[in-house]
This record gives sequence, structure tokens and C-alpha cells, in this order.
Amino acid sequence: MATAPPRPPLLLLIALVFLPIPFSLFLWDSITVCRSTPKVKRTAALPLRFRDDGVFKILQVADMHYGNGVTTRCRDVPEAAAAGCSDLNTTQFLWRVIREEKPDLVAFTGDNIFGSTATDAAESLFKAFAPVLQSGIPWAAILGNHDQESTMNREEIMSLISLMDYSVSQVGPFGTTDKQQRVDGFGNYDIRVHGAFGSTLANTSVLNLYFLDSGDRIVVDGLRAYGYIRESQLTWVQATSKKLQSLFQAPALAFFHIPIPEVRELWHSKIVGRYQEAVACSIVNSEVLKTFVFMGDVKAAFIGHDHLNDFCGNLLGIWFCYGGGFGYHAYGRASWPRRARLIAAELKRGVREWMEVETIKTWKRLDDYMLSKIDEQVLWRKS
Ligand SMILES: *[C@@H]1O[C@H](CO)[C@@H](O)[C@H](O)[C@H]1NC(C)=O
Ligand SMILES: *[C@@H]1O[C@H](CO)[C@@H](O)[C@H](O)[C@H]1NC(C)=O
Repeated sequence: MATAPPRPPLLLLIALVFLPIPFSLFLWDSITVCRSTPKVKRTAALPLRFRDDGVFKILQVADMHYGNGVTTRCRDVPEAAAAGCSDLNTTQFLWRVIREEKPDLVAFTGDNIFGSTATDAAESLFKAFAPVLQSGIPWAAILGNHDQESTMNREEIMSLISLMDYSVSQVGPFGTTDKQQRVDGFGNYDIRVHGAFGSTLANTSVLNLYFLDSGDRIVVDGLRAYGYIRESQLTWVQATSKKLQSLFQAPALAFFHIPIPEVRELWHSKIVGRYQEAVACSIVNSEVLKTFVFMGDVKAAFIGHDHLNDFCGNLLGIWFCYGGGFGYHAYGRASWPRRARLIAAELKRGVREWMEVETIKTWKRLDDYMLSKIDEQVLWRKS
């Protein structure tokens, strides 16, 4: 975080006034030279917009569980591969999938760092996000339930994340007057994706992305449970959606960490991908699904938290898709490669120009020899 440049001590200033002018100028110069320019955040080119080929591609990275880097061992990898496997394998996977897919945005859906292993939260965050910081791809992150277990609390982590190079993350809306309700959590924000450059929709958001903080842990009636999206957050996302839809009827995607209780019911539904682990949701149902249905624009929500689930299932017309475990320090299954999810929105081709979003697709990439592409499916098509 930027610190104020050091000020010349008062005594020096007094001395300057009484010194012969040429000498004081020299002295002043040497003081000001020491004041190096504070580093300014490298910002992504905003607004985000669809590419000239009519596509906007998002890479979802769920549960990196980054620790300290090279000294942090991998969990649940084949025995023969355990030696020499560390957080650097997570970094390497991120580079591989970025190079292969060239996403327009990377969305990190929480448990980016594993707080109880990372001895310095800031260092761990910089290491975990290094590939996006170095490649200059715009990126957005939200928090999981483990990020704050190291040396920084949730507000501090979200603030740092929002100040990192190319990050389009925000800490979130805060009420500025007493009347405005404070929105719970840190990392509730929306990102607008504009239509293709040169098209009629170039200055219009044709795809809206909602990021929500699903919290960490809570105690309900003496029971420890996972966090959930609170009423104030639902009020905020609903108001945001209403405002955006009054400008243009764009489809929207939501991103948060902890699944909602209804995801459990997908055990009985037709899903794409694997359901290999009990859904570890909160015991509180704050009616996220009902809110999304009411809003009408959310076509799919992307979640993390359960590393052995990587499926997409449909609840009341809205897809809920797991990213699948990405990080090597996160629990997983030795015989089941770490994976990432891709989401691509495609514009409708008009007579002379790109129009609004026509389809939203998703697929996954495995961190195997071939970077296998699996489970491609269409999530939404404009009717
Ligand atoms: C981790 O990365 C090293 C170095 O690239 C590689 O040799 C090793 O196979 C990787 N381990 C796993 C489990 O992918
Ligand atoms: C979008 O905004 C830019 C800059 O203000 C302007 O030059 C351009 O004509 C606008 N395009 C449309 C389609 O409104």
C-alpha cells in the first residue's frame, strides 16, 4: 500500500531559510530527490469490453490455497510426484492455462491463499497472483473462508487486492450517510463489460458480472457453520441489477465462494461434471436463488469451496457451476487432475457490426499433459 513520502524534518526547513540561497537550493534538491515517486497502480484498460472477434472469455480459478511458494508442499498428488511439488506447480498451471486460453479476465473465486500455511498474507497474495500481475490481464478476486487466516483480516486483504496491478476488484460499496445501510462483507462489486469497439453498443454494458462475499464462518445457535450472503448484499445486488437493466437488458454472471444450500439438490438432477463430495454450504438459506430468479438477469453463478465437485447444474433456470480445485496445496484427489473453468460469452453478429450477447458457454481445462479440454456446454442462449 502506498505510504506518504517522508517529509523533510522541521529543523532542516528552518536551516534552509537561514542558509545562503544557492546552498539551500542544493540542499532542497537533495531532499526532494530522496522523495521517490510513489508507485502507481498499473490499471487495466477500462471499461472491459468484448474483443474484435465478438468474444469475452473469463478464466475462473477456484481455491488456489497458496501458501509460501516453493516451500509449501502439494497435497493429494500421486506419491511419485510428491517430491518437488509445491505452490510453484499452482503458479505453473495458472501460466499454462493463461497461455492456452488467453482470457480477457481472470476471476479468482476465493481461498486464494491458505491462511494457516501462509506466514505473511501480503507475500502469499503477491505470489499467488503473480501470473496475472505479470501478464497484465485484468483480474477480479473475492474471498473464501481461508484467505484471512494469516496476517491480514478480510478488509485488509480485499483492500490490498483492489490496489494490486491490473486488478479490477473492489472492496465494495460502503454507506456514506447514516441512512445508507452498510453492505456486509468485503468484495461486493459489479463489473460491466461493454460491447465491441466501434459497434453501437460500444458504450453499453452488454454483460454484467456480480461479485459477492459469501463470508467465512458464523455461529448459529451455538453451531459453527460456514458464512453466507447476507440480506444487505442481496439488496445491493438487486438494486445494482435493476439500475443496469434499466440501461440495457444484459445477461449477468455471479461469482462467490461458498455454495448455496440448493446446490445439494443437484445430486438428483442431470449435471455436467462430477459430484464427488458433500456440498459444504452454510446452514442458513438467505434466499440467494430466489433473489437471482427475481432479478432475472443472472444466467449462471460460479462457485468454489468444494474442490472435488466440478459440475454445472441448473436450479430454476440458473446454472450453478463449480470451478473445481485449482491449487496443489488444496485437498484434492491424486488421480483427479487439478482444473480450471473457462466461461465465454459471444456476441451476435449483426449485418455490419457486433450486437448483444447471444450465447454463454463453459468448459474446463485439466492440468494434465495435454491441458485437456472437457465438459463444454452452452449455459445460455438468447431466445
Ligand atoms: C510440479 O512441477 C514440476 C516442475 O515443473 C514437475 O516436474 C512436476 O511434475 C509437477 N508436479 C505435479 C504433481 O504436477
Ligand atoms: C462512445 O463514446 C465515445 C467517447 O465518448 C464516442 O466517441 C463514441 O462515438 C461513442 N459511441 C457510441 C456508439 O455511442
